[in-house]
Amino acid sequence: MHHKQEILEKLTGIQSSRKSYYRELNLVVDEMKKKNRQLEVINCLTKIKIDADWSEVSAYLAEQLSRLIPFDLFALTLVEGTSLSAYVAKRNGADWRVRTLTQSLKRGESVSTSALDRLFQTEHPGCHVTSVALQSRLNKPFGFITLLHQKQPQDDGEHLLLFQQIAEHVGVSVENILLFKDVSEKVQIEARLIQSAKLAAIGEMAAGVAHELNSPLTAILGNVQLLLRETHTEPQRQMLQDVFQCSVRCKKIIQNLLTFSRQEEYQFERLFINDLVEVVLGLIGYQLTVSGICITKRLADEPLAVWGSRHQIEQIIINLLLNARDALHGASSPEIVITTFRQETDDGVYVGMSVRDNGAGIDAEHLPQIFHPFFTTKEQTKGTGLGLSVSLGIAESHGGTLTAESVRGEYSTFTLLLPIYTDEESADESETGASR
Ligand SMILES: Nc1ncnc2c1ncn2[C@@H]1O[C@H](COP(=O)(O)OP(=O)(O)OP(=O)(O)O)[C@@H](O)[C@H]1O
Ligand SMILES: [Mg+2]
Repeated sequence: MHHKQEILEKLTGIQSSRKSYYRELNLVVDEMKKKNRQLEVINCLTKIKIDADWSEVSAYLAEQLSRLIPFDLFALTLVEGTSLSAYVAKRNGADWRVRTLTQSLKRGESVSTSALDRLFQTEHPGCHVTSVALQSRLNKPFGFITLLHQKQPQDDGEHLLLFQQIAEHVGVSVENILLFKDVSEKVQIEARLIQSAKLAAIGEMAAGVAHELNSPLTAILGNVQLLLRETHTEPQRQMLQDVFQCSVRCKKIIQNLLTFSRQEEYQFERLFINDLVEVVLGLIGYQLTVSGICITKRLADEPLAVWGSRHQIEQIIINLLLNARDALHGASSPEIVITTFRQETDDGVYVGMSVRDNGAGIDAEHLPQIFHPFFTTKEQTKGTGLGLSVSLGIAESHGGTLTAESVRGEYSTFTLLLPIYTDEESADESETGASR
């Protein structure tokens, strides 16, 4: 039926009697309609939304394929690095419900169509599975499309051939999406690097200005103090007093600028964890409670001390509380619980501080990434993705750890553990006058 000649012969009736003429004409028309439909579907397959997520892509492909080939389940499988993700679509009324299956692969392990068929057969026992590899333009397989039938499919040969032809078109579209994702990720990282480079430049400039101002200010303060000692007449004395107060204030601002731009050397000292929590709550507690968040403190009864930089550890607590606040946005009864405790581990005794919120939680797949620099799920203007990586860096430089535990939609708990600073250690310190 594929050759023009054959079609012409049928239409002109050379091969057929007059009686069967219309029946054959109908067959030819049906065949043409079928081909048209196939072309239309193939055309649609090349029009997948480039920024769609994989579940949407799988549902779209299933919808289009179902117009040509009967099946019970459709799967789009992608092999990325050392993991395999299959997006299995099943019809649910007018829509498609997509379930994700992931499996880790051994380093260097490649996946064949028969291995994939076996995987689906274990997941869906009794099903007939047909997988076709998706090839990149460089002929490298990067994924598969699979049809699953609960009963042995009829007319297997023709549909299989069609499925293989379609796989070529799907391969091109899926590869385009992969490339788009890759490029947009790179563009985002680049934008964030530029942003952080800008911040670093501003920090450096602020530090430079602060250093420049520090010396004249020291002179102003010294001279004013001298004058104050010798001036006993009013209103001159009061005026000098004002100059002194304003200079002290300027000095503090400069100190903060230097601290912020991290040009200042960190002073290590003995710190009580409960005090640090109270100081931070004094700073940002009000901001949290006005946004409707209930803050519960479960602070240890005993004084638990650590050896560290006040500013840096406070910064960790601030970062954790601000993240919790963001995660609680829109929650029905938002709550943050701050706990401090003593923890004995095989490696020694630690002081612990945990921040738990009952907010959005973290996707299991995101959990391993949240401590990476620049990882953020927040809008570009809201989050730089640096808070947790900086906090982890500080915890580690203090000989401690920072860990997270979360269930999506339920809670997140971040726990900071720092080596305990005992009374004996502080006694040693005062005896020898040594500093760590
Ligand atoms: N308490 C939490 N609940 C839910 N997700 C969280 C929580 N804390 C962190 N995350 C997730 O971890 C990501 C990284 O957090 P991180 O503090 O490093 O960056 P950020 O908050 O996005 O940006 P920045 O801290 O620079 O403003 C967040 O974008 C968010 O997705
Ligand atoms: Mg943050």
